Amino acid sequence: MKLTFLSLFPEMYQGVFSSSIWKQAEEKGQVTYSVTDFRQYADNKHNKVDDYPFGGGAGMVLRAQPIYDAIESLQLSKDARVVLLCPQGGPHTQEKAEQLASAEEIVFICGHYEGYDERIRSLATDEISIGDYVLTGGELASMVIADSVIRLQSGVLGNEQSAKEDSFQTGLLEHPHYTRPAEFRGMKVPDVLLSGHHRNIEEWRKKESLRRTYERRPDLLEDYDQSDQEEKWLNE
Ligand code: ADE
Repeated sequence: MKLTFLSLFPEMYQGVFSSSIWKQAEEKGQVTYSVTDFRQYADNKHNKVDDYPFGGGAGMVLRAQPIYDAIESLQLSKDARVVLLCPQGGPHTQEKAEQLASAEEIVFICGHYEGYDERIRSLATDEISIGDYVLTGGELASMVIADSVIRLQSGVLGNEQSAKEDSFQTGLLEHPHYTRPAEFRGMKVPDVLLSGHHRNIEEWRKKESLRRTYERRPDLLEDYDQSDQEEKWLNE
């Protein structure tokens, strides 16, 4: 998978490209990264990428021309996804991450300023927001989305099962985890996890997962297909 970030601040990406799973994924040949500074495509003397809004108002608007030329220079394959980061986009979700994860190529358009010239939106296959708050630019949002996509590439996580059991992938929040020691500062690991009884452990995890979701994110249960047993647990 090829990931390209169109950004005025290429230096923001150096930390993620060279760390942890992102770095390993590139070393294993599963992902390649590049950043295009679209200022270099601006067709005016001072490489200005923004301008005043028609109709007046506060703030500057990102011009269409540098983004169009930068995208054309990339010679994208016809199934490439072009993701525009903006607070007006659809919400980023695990489902969206899975859809994007099957693409061969994704380009992220990261704006700053008050907004995009509306004609930039015609280039996008997806407009995505990472939450109901306004960031200073799309870079951090593009990293969040790319991270959620990279970890779904096959072979990127050591343990494929762990991605399958993630919160959201199952429709529920994940159950609690513990590791050694069995008692830490008076806080004990639940007996069932030390019992070696796999069926009871599975049942405990499922119940805890349901309980957590019920307590913290009851909205997720609206879309979750409960088994009869799960419905009984929820009503206990
Ligand atoms: N740019 C500014 N705010 C944003 C958000 N919440 N999500 C994606 N891109 C953004």
